[in-house]
Amino acid sequence: MANFLLSKNWKVIGLDAITKYYDPKLKMDRHKILKKNKNFHAYTGFLEDEAMLDELYAVHRPNIIIHFAAQPGVRYSIENPQSYVQSNLIGTFNILECAKKYPPDHLLFASTSSVYGNNKKKPFNENQKSDTPISFYAATKKSNEVIAHSYSHLFKIPITVFRFFTVYGTWGRPDMALFKFTHNILSGFPIDIHNYGKMKRDFTNVEDLVKAVSLLIDIVPLSPENRKIKFKLDSISDTAPYRVVNIGSSTPYNIMDYIHYIENALQIKAKKKFIKMQDGEVKETYSNVDLLYELTGFIPKKNIQTGILEFVDWYKKYYKINV
Ligand SMILES: NC(=O)c1ccc[n+]([C@@H]2O[C@H](COP(=O)([O-])OP(=O)(O)OC[C@H]3O[C@@H](n4cnc5c(N)ncnc54)[C@H](O)[C@@H]3O)[C@@H](O)[C@H]2O)c1
Repeated sequence: MANFLLSKNWKVIGLDAITKYYDPKLKMDRHKILKKNKNFHAYTGFLEDEAMLDELYAVHRPNIIIHFAAQPGVRYSIENPQSYVQSNLIGTFNILECAKKYPPDHLLFASTSSVYGNNKKKPFNENQKSDTPISFYAATKKSNEVIAHSYSHLFKIPITVFRFFTVYGTWGRPDMALFKFTHNILSGFPIDIHNYGKMKRDFTNVEDLVKAVSLLIDIVPLSPENRKIKFKLDSISDTAPYRVVNIGSSTPYNIMDYIHYIENALQIKAKKKFIKMQDGEVKETYSNVDLLYELTGFIPKKNIQTGILEFVDWYKKYYKINV
């Protein structure tokens, strides 16, 4: 996201704690690319550090806040729930406090498709019930959403919440399926296939996500009294300048097909280990992206096999693998 904004001549103030949830070298290498641009100002620190955050806001007075920093991951939230309380609950609360003190034009924040839990009604749309999460990660993100709504109402902060659906692509996260499967297949290790392969995911390529977010930056939710246009499918709040938007491809893929595409891209057959469903995981995600389309005229469209090939090429180059 930062890379895209820098390419459009934005001044970007980046804050990241470079946590050790996964290899910090990967994070630092992403930063190295950004730091080549003189408009990128990098800070290392935790969102929980109120004084540091306040100073950062006081100095830079950002007009747009893109809040993506979080402790992600469904499984790790069972093992280490405290880090989700710190990064997601306290961290997001501190961001909102700064937004109250130094009002931005628009605050955009990453939530997750996991808030839909095991909802039977598919595809998931922004207006359906999403208050019965089945993982602690999703519970913290849903809490972020409702807390953000109260701040949006009380302090008139325009907020757009994104519910991202399984993001994949170059420079992605090592704990996600595409990264793990590619690593294991290339190393000759078996891959764990949850719920014996009976899972579906709505995969979103990171380039499409960046495009969608960049378009939504300019679509600022207005307070009820200032609204002239009414969008048909809107999730906008009746009491606050606050809107939730799904960002997904609206195409759920069977996990076995996804693995097949990775095997094709690598030209190697995976050693498969079929295991039971993991706690906190949902069987299927499927986004309704009609609202995204109505607001921006855009929906994610990258061909999944092309996206996987691009990831595999990046992975081999980054880890210097010649196969
Ligand atoms: N990748 C996905 O499929 C996906 C799906 C749904 C939602 N999301 C959300 O999108 C956002 C970005 O996810 P990602 O996949 O790029 O994850 P990521 O882990 O690569 O990026 C999050 C960054 O936040 C930083 N961070 C964590 N806790 C922090 C803290 N307390 N203070 C400051 N920095 C901190 C980490 O160091 C990390 O670099 C997250 O909010 C995540 O919950 C991602």
